[in-house]
Amino acid sequence: MGFTFISTSKRRLASGNTFQNLLTALLLLIISASVFVQQGYGQGQPAHNTGAKYRRGMVVCATPNAAQVGLDILKEGGNAIDAAVAVQFALEVTHPEAGNIGGGGLMVYRSAGGETSTLDFREKAPASASQNMYLDSAGNVIPDMSLYTHQASGVPGSVDGMVEAHRKFGRLKWADLVQPAIDLAHNGFTISRRLASALNYDSKQFKKLNPGKNYLLKEEGWREGDLLVQEDLAKTLTLIRDKGRDGFYAGIVADQLVAEMKNGNGIMTKSDLENYHSVWRKPLTGDYKGYKIITMPPPSSGGVALLQLLKSVEAYPLHRWGHNQDSTVQLIVEAERRVYADRSKYLGDPDFYKVPVDSLLNPAYIKLRMNNFNWNAATPSSSIQPGNLAGHESDQTTHYSIVDSEGNAVAITTTLNDSFGSKTFVKGAGFLLNNEMDDFSSKPGVPNMFGLVGGKANSIQPNKRMLSSMTPTIIEKDGKLFMVVGTPGGSTIITSVFQTILNVIEFDQNMQQAVDSKRFHHQWLPDVVDVEKNALTSDATAILQQKGYKIVDRGPSGRVDAILVSPGGYYEGGADPRGNDTKLGY
Ligand code: GLY
Repeated sequence: MGFTFISTSKRRLASGNTFQNLLTALLLLIISASVFVQQGYGQGQPAHNTGAKYRRGMVVCATPNAAQVGLDILKEGGNAIDAAVAVQFALEVTHPEAGNIGGGGLMVYRSAGGETSTLDFREKAPASASQNMYLDSAGNVIPDMSLYTHQASGVPGSVDGMVEAHRKFGRLKWADLVQPAIDLAHNGFTISRRLASALNYDSKQFKKLNPGKNYLLKEEGWREGDLLVQEDLAKTLTLIRDKGRDGFYAGIVADQLVAEMKNGNGIMTKSDLENYHSVWRKPLTGDYKGYKIITMPPPSSGGVALLQLLKSVEAYPLHRWGHNQDSTVQLIVEAERRVYADRSKYLGDPDFYKVPVDSLLNPAYIKLRMNNFNWNAATPSSSIQPGNLAGHESDQTTHYSIVDSEGNAVAITTTLNDSFGSKTFVKGAGFLLNNEMDDFSSKPGVPNMFGLVGGKANSIQPNKRMLSSMTPTIIEKDGKLFMVVGTPGGSTIITSVFQTILNVIEFDQNMQQAVDSKRFHHQWLPDVVDVEKNALTSDATAILQQKGYKIVDRGPSGRVDAILVSPGGYYEGGADPRGNDTKLGY
């Protein structure tokens, strides 16, 4: 509700009966005004799934505790980066499925003055990793080796990323940003039903992979409202608070991590940890109907794919066709099919492989790719190969969006890869290890956990970063901040971010509606359209099936957490109801 709703409704009213329209407009104004008053602007209260708007700052992330930590930092005079650092560490404690100091992530930042930067704190392959490390003597991929072993972990980047982001843009003291997470770990927090069931679901794996004392297990099973205390993690966070980078990449924690590797036949060494450094990269930018899209360059595939997708559909009248109508879905699926085919061949770590970003984003190339689709029938994926580029050879993650009172904005997507990563924790240090190595292509053409295939561009090499789909994105309109958006979801990240943006720009949805809206996904291979329950009408489904699209039901797709700047400069959040995601503002 609120301003966006009214302006959307105004558009609809323009074509209707004048008297009725006037009455409806009056009613909407009254409802909107009462919502404005009820929401008590400036109170900083939770605003689950409402269109509440705030003037001074907003945090949208995966858990209520972490959102509160971020909001408190903003209120104490911290900027968006300060809040992001505090949220990142609070998520490590309160969202162990994906929050991480044992993983990595990607950040897109836009200052109030419009300067932009991105920080790549993606994990890296250890120095002794090798191209065929997950293959047996017959050259076949060894099941689960890149997922649930000590060799599945890339060198973690999150702590270095936070130190680096704070060094460049932070305002408050580092120690004050880490302290809330220490308190949550030491005092404990009451767990949600969702976390209880996630912990119970993986209990056999936790037991098998972590012999001995185990903070993730509870004999009688976890229940909603149980207190989760993480003393070992509190100690690790205290070292990070006091020593910064050296609290993790050197000293006690580094020793514990390397000992864990030795015990579990892992390959990460002390020098891997010492040598890890996050990288500032030039943001990838593009235009969609006058909106400036600021997003993540490789080693994420997300930014390139998002810009390709937007350009692929820009010329078509999506607004007229309507949200999730058969023509809209068909066009989007055909664009996704082609873009994911390109992803499989051309995207990888730019420090190791020359990613042809300019060619992939060339409007003429994108137009050519879309030329051969046929409105009468689905294009079989078997007939689509990665495009020919002249001159070229070749769930679980989490996202948070934050804006501060000055208008600085940050979008961070961060990950352990699978839920609870490799499900292995560092004994004595109390944090989980990622299984990000599965994001590499273990063998050309063999799908990873997300069904994604790859080849040379994303093959394993020592010290290389594995390709990501994470798509933290900031959008400007008329030179001003317009949207901050991102989501977890493995291969579906890109299509979820894409559809959320279209929901606002093309289908006039407010931020919460755009996040709530049902999503669908196609990734070239397998050749199916995954749809959330009730995403498509039965009519749209029938038309698409008749054209040869294989429609497959899937569970909830992603957890989009986003902020929209609505007219008048108010921050309006979208916290995904598919999780416990929370938006708080003041
Ligand atoms: N681990 C998921 C991604 O980075 O795409």
